Amino acid sequence: MSIRLKSADLKKRMRDALQGGGSKAIEKQKAIGKLTARERIIALLDPNTFHEYDLFVEHAAKDFDMDKKYLPGDGVITGTGLISGHPVCIYAQDFTVAGGSLGWMHAKKITKIMDHAMRLKIPIIGINDSGGARIQEGVNSLAGYGEIFYRNTQASGVIPQISVILGPCAGGAVYSPALTDFVYVVDKISKMFITGPEVIKTVLGEEVSMEELGGARVHSEITGNAHFYAESEQDCFDQIKELITFIPWNNAKKADPFPKKPPKTRKYKIENLIPTDPRQPYDVRDVIRAVSDDSEFLEVQERFAANIVIGFGRLNGETVGFVANQPLVLAGVLDVDSSDKAARFIRYCDAFNVPLVTLVDLPGYLPGVDQEHAGVIRHGAKILYAYSEATVPKITAILRKAYGGGYIAMCSHHLRADFVFAWPTAEIAVMGPEGAANIIFRKEIMGAKNPEEIRKQKIAEYKKKFANPYVAAAYGYIDAVIEPTETRKMLLHALEISQSKAVQAPRKKHGIPPF
Ligand code: HXC
Repeated sequence: MSIRLKSADLKKRMRDALQGGGSKAIEKQKAIGKLTARERIIALLDPNTFHEYDLFVEHAAKDFDMDKKYLPGDGVITGTGLISGHPVCIYAQDFTVAGGSLGWMHAKKITKIMDHAMRLKIPIIGINDSGGARIQEGVNSLAGYGEIFYRNTQASGVIPQISVILGPCAGGAVYSPALTDFVYVVDKISKMFITGPEVIKTVLGEEVSMEELGGARVHSEITGNAHFYAESEQDCFDQIKELITFIPWNNAKKADPFPKKPPKTRKYKIENLIPTDPRQPYDVRDVIRAVSDDSEFLEVQERFAANIVIGFGRLNGETVGFVANQPLVLAGVLDVDSSDKAARFIRYCDAFNVPLVTLVDLPGYLPGVDQEHAGVIRHGAKILYAYSEATVPKITAILRKAYGGGYIAMCSHHLRADFVFAWPTAEIAVMGPEGAANIIFRKEIMGAKNPEEIRKQKIAEYKKKFANPYVAAAYGYIDAVIEPTETRKMLLHALEISQSKAVQAPRKKHGIPPF
């Protein structure tokens, strides 16, 4: 065959493979507002940077007439490309081909591109849109999932792993995203659950829609499985492009430096952000924006456990991870979900060389039977573990309340913060003045002729003694009491002089965190 004929043969083969599941299946996909797998990759990557591999991979299944079926690319597209100039490996399941179901060769394409990502030390992005294990391939499809889960675990903390849920992600398939660092969901498109509505109806007699069971809102607001919520597929891709600029390619690198820009101090006047009344709430994200470059803040898990705020910002062009109590929600208390949320983020930042900036304003851990029974001891311990274990630069600023366990947990010196600053408005004590006065002056209050007056007097006495940063500063637990307007300057300096921080953790195989 001449080279011309061979080229024509290649073109025909490519045309066949690129047709995906055919026009009918593609129309069905489009009718519910979904892009095709290839369109998704093109929309996410920088123009003309996608290089596809393994286009001609075919399944080798024989049972249930599978040997008569041609499944282009075996229902998954894999390749490499660039996002905002950063290299990535990517795969996208093609729902138009056998419902994007995962057979053995489909899984092999995914594990091959994951192995590439690990060798090249660049992020891996997986776009999930699949009916789960390919039923006709039996145990081979289960084996395929197992191979993916193993690699997700090996890659954890080495290269960033991003999962995008753009369709069904059912059964055991949910566990690959659950093992990755960031999960994106899209309104009305993402559906994630272990057992679907049909099984629930059969086993429990309960009726529930896919959306109510595992839609985008459920996973971004209730379960916390998703880290980012998007209104549309394009919105989702724009969010991923932004995230990629904040994170490093792998755990041996730092995030690429970004052009330095001062915060928008006209809009975010740090000296006016905290109300004079210590019981009045405020939005701690304004404090973050008042100190971060260009007042930019990429919030992670914005809709879940909103009593703690986590996310990425920059200080003089360097990515930092912010962890901040949110007085707007439940007075910023730590509870089961917020401890979980913060601990995971702290470990992410530590694994990927992202310094941590912690802003403190909380009354402590949330009391209550619900919380105790939900395991606030075990979950609350995660944040202590994560901060204590983290060896990246750790800088803390106490803005207002830092009571009890909350003071210790929010990256105090005792968990090896490198710098702890406090504003003059800081109150560092075992508990709030009202609670404390009621306990330690109970006899005097009860025995007084005018208990209310004595109670007020004792609260005022306690406030004067402890509701300030100076007792902690006198013991050296605070490095400097600073004016709010000095915060950015202090953070920049602390970060600058922490560049060569090196901490040797005790030799061990690994710790046993309170998972
Ligand atoms: C083989 C599948 C499939 C699967 C869908 N298809 N899921 N083929 N194995 N798991 C095929 C359909 O037969 C159909 O083929 C095409 O994909 C499109 O599917 P539809 O049902 O027509 O689409 P839709 O109406 O949009 O419904 C989508 C769906 C539904 C909700 C995902 O297909 C569904 O319920 N699928 C099964 C989901 C499930 O139970 N998965 C769990 C498997 S067990 P044709 O040829 O007609 O176009 C599992 C365990 C893994 O995943 C454990 C790992 C640890």
